[in-house]
Amino acid sequence: MKPKHDLQLKPKYTAFVATSIDGRIAKSSRGSGAKLDWTSREDWDFFQASLARMDAVIVGRNTYNIAKKYIERRHAIVLTTRTSESKTLGMTTFLHPKKTDVKKHIEKKRYKRVAVLGGAGVYDYCLRHKMLDEFFVTVEPYVFTTGVQMFSGQKFSKYKFSLVSMKRLNKRGSILLKYKKIKG
Ligand SMILES: NC(=O)c1ccc[n+]([C@@H]2O[C@H](COP(=O)([O-])OP(=O)(O)OC[C@H]3O[C@@H](n4cnc5c(N)ncnc54)[C@H](OP(=O)(O)O)[C@@H]3O)[C@@H](O)[C@H]2O)c1
Repeated sequence: MKPKHDLQLKPKYTAFVATSIDGRIAKSSRGSGAKLDWTSREDWDFFQASLARMDAVIVGRNTYNIAKKYIERRHAIVLTTRTSESKTLGMTTFLHPKKTDVKKHIEKKRYKRVAVLGGAGVYDYCLRHKMLDEFFVTVEPYVFTTGVQMFSGQKFSKYKFSLVSMKRLNKRGSILLKYKKIKG
């Protein structure tokens, strides 16, 4: 019998984010402030185990530049405005979403489980384009006071989610939340 995900027609989009208590995903978009050295070991282990089950990942160009060595090991889609035609290097495809239909690209490639890995522009793009079915949010016990916001939306919109599970990952209090998107 075929595995369940092969029978699924539409791809399932799962977003992963590690955030401070105040909803920041990094100190800055680039440079040393972009390092994810503040997230917990337990979150990293969960993240890696989850990625192993994914067919492809979607990232923004900044996140790609920071985490190239991890991203290039997987089928990856990098969103960027710096290309008019989609361009593939190894397993990485660079796409301009206004020039190439991202969903069609994914369906053509027959990816069934797609991980949305950020940053802020990508979470926002995927949420607005119905490419975010479930959302794993790890809240690390820090307040950053400033930094990169989780979503970079330009106008207020309210999307509904329902909490599926919550788990304390360690003694310090890193919390893993799983949400599913409510349609509509
Ligand atoms: N804590 C976490 O879980 C987590 C996860 C991911 C990233 N991060 C952190 O977040 C920071 C990077 O986030 P970020 O928001 O600055 O950058 P990002 O989303 O990784 O990259 C932004 C760039 O991606 C491209 N892009 C994004 N959305 C696009 C769209 N809809 N259409 C076309 N191009 C698009 C653009 O590239 P061009 O300029 O080439 O057009 C844009 O300048 C880093 O510090 C990273 O470490 C944290």
